[in-house]
Amino acid sequence: MKTRAKVIPLARRPGPEDALIEVDGVRKVFPVGASFLTVLDEVRFQVSRGELVCIIGRSGCGKSTLLKILAGFLAPSAGKVLLNGETVARPGPDRCMVFQEDALFPWLTVRENVAFGLRGKGLSTTEVREQVDKFLALVGLREFHNYLPRHISGGMKQRVALARVLILEPQVLLMDEPFAALDAQTREEMQDLLLTLWRQLSHTIIFVTHDITEAVALADRVLVMSTAPGRIQQQLRVELARPRRRDREDFMDLAGKLSAALR
Ligand SMILES: Nc1ncnc2c1ncn2[C@@H]1O[C@H](COP(=O)(O)OP(=O)(O)OP(=O)(O)O)[C@@H](O)[C@H]1O
Ligand SMILES: [Mg+2]
Repeated sequence: MKTRAKVIPLARRPGPEDALIEVDGVRKVFPVGASFLTVLDEVRFQVSRGELVCIIGRSGCGKSTLLKILAGFLAPSAGKVLLNGETVARPGPDRCMVFQEDALFPWLTVRENVAFGLRGKGLSTTEVREQVDKFLALVGLREFHNYLPRHISGGMKQRVALARVLILEPQVLLMDEPFAALDAQTREEMQDLLLTLWRQLSHTIIFVTHDITEAVALADRVLVMSTAPGRIQQQLRVELARPRRRDREDFMDLAGKLSAALR
């Protein structure tokens, strides 16, 4: 099958009709001592419903800051973020964030961690159990439901972290280097799992990573951020057929392009 990779000019954006998320001229300035640090400036992009977009950029370019603004944890200093045409002003159940370090409750079992977000939703015990079983099965952790976080591996903890947000059925998953602390093989397994879940559950995913190979393996589109201030400097659509073989020439070609863009 013929596969292609092409650079999309920034001027050509997806049509507004299918934009789920619109980031419009976002700027973020932090006070630092007696002065100010402009971390993001004129950040502008759209994400379509169901799209898997990766954001790459050097350390400190503002990727986590941008995700926190998308999540509604931080307010932009200028510009706005729209979700379904509505301005994002605070965190909401339509957006869930997954972090690099597992943020599981250490005193709760795997099952209780996954069930946590369903509290206060008025579900019966049976409904909660069925939902938790479904999502534990999706991430391959049914047999470990009674384990405490300290008794499972790093990869398994990230599976719990995924199940815990997926059970809330968010429209958008915001992922901040969620697999960065894992060994290479576990990381690839997690990437494959994420792609399977994405196909089954049709979320929109914005995934931040340092790892170019990870971005090419996962993304429909990669946004490359510049540093100081962070801006979207380039976008690359990844038109490689899935499942993507990391040892193929077209895969490595695209990784090379992204690596050059980051330099
Ligand atoms: N609350 C804050 N107050 C002041 N400066 C901040 C704050 N949060 C982040 N910064 C600064 O903003 C810049 C971008 O930080 P951010 O964490 O968004 O970068 P990043 O691209 O996610 O980096 P990394 O790849 O290392 O995770 C850094 O210089 C950081 O020191
Ligand atoms: Mg970060």
